[in-house]
Amino acid sequence: MTNEELMNEIIKLKEEKGYKILGHNYLIGDILDISDETGDSLALARKAMEMDADKIMFIGVDFMAETLKILNPEKRIFVPTRASECTMANSLDRETLIKFKEKYPNASVVLYVNSTAECKMEADCVCTSANAIEIVNNIDNDTILFGPDKNLASYVAEKTGKTIIPVPGDDGFCYVHDEFKKEEVLVAKEKYPNAKLITHPESPKEVRDLSEYIGGTGKMIKIPLTDDTKDYIIGTEAGMIHQLKKNHPDRNFYPLKNSAICIGMKKNTLKNLYEALKEDKHEIILSDEIMEKAVYSIENMFKVMG
Ligand code: 13P
Ligand code: SF4
Repeated sequence: MTNEELMNEIIKLKEEKGYKILGHNYLIGDILDISDETGDSLALARKAMEMDADKIMFIGVDFMAETLKILNPEKRIFVPTRASECTMANSLDRETLIKFKEKYPNASVVLYVNSTAECKMEADCVCTSANAIEIVNNIDNDTILFGPDKNLASYVAEKTGKTIIPVPGDDGFCYVHDEFKKEEVLVAKEKYPNAKLITHPESPKEVRDLSEYIGGTGKMIKIPLTDDTKDYIIGTEAGMIHQLKKNHPDRNFYPLKNSAICIGMKKNTLKNLYEALKEDKHEIILSDEIMEKAVYSIENMFKVMG
């Protein structure tokens, strides 16, 4: 089947079988274009909770699908493939986190939503890139164990002034964002002298410091609504350019790096999406223990957000 035929079949199947499709901003354009809802990890979690659907096909990476399931125990959550992993989330395991908690018994634990469901069982509160500063400011403690992203941890430390202890430490990062370099920013700014740079807070400090804007993918989409700049350099996963162009056809968006690709996100294809819908494959099932204990830290985030 051609891509167009697959897209038509997917739309037919999801309607016949009563699925809603939710897709993260980093997916390939063809999948985003046939999704019922698109957005960042926080927006998708909220949409799944509000949605009147028994079956959701979630397209993104593993931790996002797990979060959706924890928040929607009564809904059936499916994914196109089990191979869509977030290496950053998987860089922190529960045992390591427990050891850090033992070493710093007076610290509160804030975990980036890009973490495993098992680790979320050990956290006081979860945050996303959209609300990390607000969440940490809201915790009644000046010492915070924060993981797994060391770059987001340093950004939060800078903005809140609190003592942020990164867990697991140097090994916690996103390979897509951590590889952005100051030199690449300088070359891009020379090539597009009138452009403003927007970077994801998972980027290193040397890159964040040269940015006009820092924010998660949801914020990135909103920036051109309040800034009439024509050109933007985008320091995040290159797939984001599709969403930005679709939302702002009158502006120009240039990826900071074309090779900034999240392999986990790109494991989702039209073909495996079609097959999963056809055969009701890859349902997310979590243990009762995870469902009961991990929900606490995620709900705490929603309490702060209101
Ligand atoms: P957002 O929550 O900003 O969509 O980011 C998720 C992510 O995985 C970034 O790499
Ligand atoms: Fe994880 Fe990085 Fe991919 Fe985001 S871009 S899902 S943090 S590996």
